[in-house]
Amino acid sequence: MNRTLMAAMAALLAGSLGLAACVSAPMAPAAPATPVASLRGSDASTPDQAPAVHEQLGRKPGSQDKVARTFVGQPPLIPHATDNFDEVTLADNQCLECHGAQNHVAKNAPRISDSHFVSATGQKLAETDSRRHACQLCHVPQFDAKPLVDNQFVGAQPRTP
Ligand code: HEC
Ligand code: HEC
Repeated sequence: MNRTLMAAMAALLAGSLGLAACVSAPMAPAAPATPVASLRGSDASTPDQAPAVHEQLGRKPGSQDKVARTFVGQPPLIPHATDNFDEVTLADNQCLECHGAQNHVAKNAPRISDSHFVSATGQKLAETDSRRHACQLCHVPQFDAKPLVDNQFVGAQPRTP
């Protein structure tokens, strides 16, 4: 082995020993300037805080006016309370018991639109299209709650539905 190669190997060995020393004796992490708080605001071991319960603004169906729409194509907001109704399931839909094509006259409720009887391929159906079955995907009841995000939304001129 020539001298240059030996010197290079010695330097390499010294370097790796130095690195090993670093790994085996890490420096203690500096204490954070401000104490760390979890995003949930509580210890993982404490139970989650229940969200505030907001009351629905609407009362029994039949006892209030409709809510004016604020843009074209808006699914009308549900003016009445819905918290006493059964959940919409595959077999049951209490909303249709009042709003369905067969029942709306007797129940004196607004009839669901013709658009709800059109299939994805544009065919007219005798029953509500399955894409409209979960009414509350589009129609929402009203709550007295602070908006989640501050905003400056100003609706279009209210129109009579
Ligand atoms: C007991 C009958 C009844 C049931 C059940 C019912 N509604 Fe209503 N709904 C009404 C009546 C009556 C109105 C008219 C406003 C009022 O008087 O509250 C109305 C109004 C509405 C409107 C406003 C329509 C518009 O043109 O502005 C929507 C949307 C609506 N209901 C959706 C629903 C949904 C979704 C459900 C199921 C979660 C439901 N309703 C269950 C009777 C009912
Ligand atoms: C995919 C979204 C969507 C779903 C799901 C849906 N709707 Fe609608 N609905 C709308 C939109 C948008 C309008 C207003 C435009 C129109 O008439 O098509 C409307 C209009 C209405 C109206 C007012 C009709 C009128 O002539 O003023 C009623 C009542 C209604 N829907 C009830 C229901 C009920 C009950 C269900 C569940 C069986 C339901 N909707 C499911 C989007 C939806």
